[in-house]
Amino acid sequence: MSEINKRPVILDGDPGHDDAVAWVIAAKCEEFDIKAITTVAGNQTLEKVTYNAQRIAALCGIDCPIAKGAAVPLVGNLIIAPGYHGVSGLDGPKLPEPKRAIENIPAVELMAKVLKESKDKVTIIATGPQTNVACLLLAHPELKEKIEVISLMGGGLRNGNWTAPAEFNILEDPEAAYIEYHSGVPIIMAGLDVTEKAMIFPSEWEEFRNMGNDVARTVAEWLDFFFKHLHEIGWEGATLHDPCAVLALVHPEIFTMKDMYIEIETKGEYCRGETVPDWDNRLGKDSNVKVILDLDRVRFVELLKEYTRKYGGK
Ligand code: RIB
Ligand code: CA
Repeated sequence: MSEINKRPVILDGDPGHDDAVAWVIAAKCEEFDIKAITTVAGNQTLEKVTYNAQRIAALCGIDCPIAKGAAVPLVGNLIIAPGYHGVSGLDGPKLPEPKRAIENIPAVELMAKVLKESKDKVTIIATGPQTNVACLLLAHPELKEKIEVISLMGGGLRNGNWTAPAEFNILEDPEAAYIEYHSGVPIIMAGLDVTEKAMIFPSEWEEFRNMGNDVARTVAEWLDFFFKHLHEIGWEGATLHDPCAVLALVHPEIFTMKDMYIEIETKGEYCRGETVPDWDNRLGKDSNVKVILDLDRVRFVELLKEYTRKYGGK
């Protein structure tokens, strides 16, 4: 694919094992021209997820500016998830040291720079709390029209995974999500409705260990670690949330999507951070989100393998 036809992309996330797998895939998507990586605190602190972002970029050969974003949500205190991702935020295999230093501008300004300089609209793949994206929309409303789509992992129409109704990324910063979902910018939402079905089983990721390239082996060892806690709490496989936000852009055919109006609950003692679906359009509002409801799991796993094989070996 010629350089001129590629989709300019910003990867924003809180790596995090599933962010890491998402970026492994993104780095081999020929349709993408990755313009920047921006980090946001979530799975671990900002310092830790940023160091992880640098190491993932070094591992995958992603050579683009990397900038640090929000260390805390817009309102409230940071929640981290060491139970799932470990003390480092990316426990498991040894990773290469960073090849690129962190930019001396904040994430929002790097995002704005990419949007301003791009002759085409830019896609933002946001797989952490939505704080950086919200800050971009608040600080640079004039650049909204330069955003093609925000493909995000977050929310869930029927359940949460951190509180009963709220999913981690949205619960971390509901005000940020509210700003985003009311911005008018096109959104593809990979919520728990699809990501809890985007499961890979230990027998399936065994193949990665024997592919003959370091990235595939690293993915297998990331999944070994990520699955530990999931298995302890009753899951039969590893739920790969963030890769859905990448694959929805390059293989929409494996997903089932529905345009809906979604509201973000920012109040409520029990429901803060809930993504509330207007299933029957009772509010009479135009849809603000393309929600992913289902996927072909077998094809999803096949694609994970296809992209990982692109790093070499057999
Ligand atoms: O709820 C799952 C989401 O929260 C994923 O993006 C995971 O990486 C964490 O950020
Ligand atoms: Ca994430």
